[in-house]
Amino acid sequence: MGRRIYYFTGTGNSMRAARVIAERIGNTEIVSMKADPSDYSAKDCEIVGFVYPVYHWTMPAPAESFVEKLDINPKAYVFVVAMPSFVCGIACEKLAEILDRKGIKLQYGNIVNSVANYAIVYPPFPSPWLMVPKTEKKLKKIAEDIFCRKTRPYPRASKMIKRKRDRVMTPYLELQKYADNPFTISKDCISCGLCSRVCPCHNIVLEGGKPSFQHHCANCMACVVSCPKRAIGYEIRGEDRKLLDSSDYKTPLVEIMGLPAKRKLYRNPYITVNDLTKERELWPKEVKHEK
Ligand SMILES: Cc1cc2nc3c(=O)[nH]c(=O)nc-3n(C[C@H](O)[C@H](O)[C@H](O)COP(=O)(O)O)c2cc1C
Ligand code: SF4
Ligand code: SF4
Repeated sequence: MGRRIYYFTGTGNSMRAARVIAERIGNTEIVSMKADPSDYSAKDCEIVGFVYPVYHWTMPAPAESFVEKLDINPKAYVFVVAMPSFVCGIACEKLAEILDRKGIKLQYGNIVNSVANYAIVYPPFPSPWLMVPKTEKKLKKIAEDIFCRKTRPYPRASKMIKRKRDRVMTPYLELQKYADNPFTISKDCISCGLCSRVCPCHNIVLEGGKPSFQHHCANCMACVVSCPKRAIGYEIRGEDRKLLDSSDYKTPLVEIMGLPAKRKLYRNPYITVNDLTKERELWPKEVKHEK
């Protein structure tokens, strides 16, 4: 019986979490949700984990559709670890709903606050040197819980958060209207294709050597933080700019957003750009996975 942890990540926090947990439980395959779920079924797994960031107080859409399509052993020990910066919202409830429809019970749920990475809206905060050690400490505790097969009710959003979600999140959800139109590629691009390889949504193809965005972007920031030439920018232009200017949902954050060339970018310090290109790996590395 196998052990699999499925993760979605843009800037590595969730991949790092998957590795820390896999390290503790041992002999575990960690699989990126950029893979095809039919290639990595969990129907013969004894432990099945899900780790992902929180987007707009919920689960990232690509993670939702991955889990929808995944076969899971109904007798498995199933857990979730959500990685928000601060507000988890309904990110765990959403997964529980999907699993419930499949007849699967979520047995352990937890959240780990981590560095906020939404680079097109703000620089990373809190400072990685302050936040990363705290994140690591909580991850180790959670890994121990999971190793011991503890059960824990998954975190739920308070009534207040549910009530406020629409109003608070609308300016950010408005950004989705523009999809990936605002991404810009500067003349510094060297056509290396790394942005395409790290994208967990298969959203970038190289056309004539230059990245072309295919309009199913999750705004995960992987391409932005991985480009060796910092050639990817973000600027709302043309018709989209007019739409934004006439929007009722202007907030200071939306107004200042964009990706100035000198803005600080964040990637989890334990995760390399090469790691972000991976579809799967055995972890810890020296142990062979049982078939
Ligand atoms: C599009 C987007 C939306 C986000 N929305 C939230 C949010 O609603 N609540 C929150 O606490 N953090 C939010 N974040 C921050 C991420 O959840 C957080 O930085 C996470 O640890 C990133 O994980 P990763 O490195 O695995 O991609 C958002 C980040 C992005 C890119
Ligand atoms: S990673 Fe940067 S340099 Fe490489 S193809 Fe993409 S935009 Fe160009
Ligand atoms: S295009 Fe960039 S920001 Fe959008 S999903 Fe792909 S890697 Fe993430």
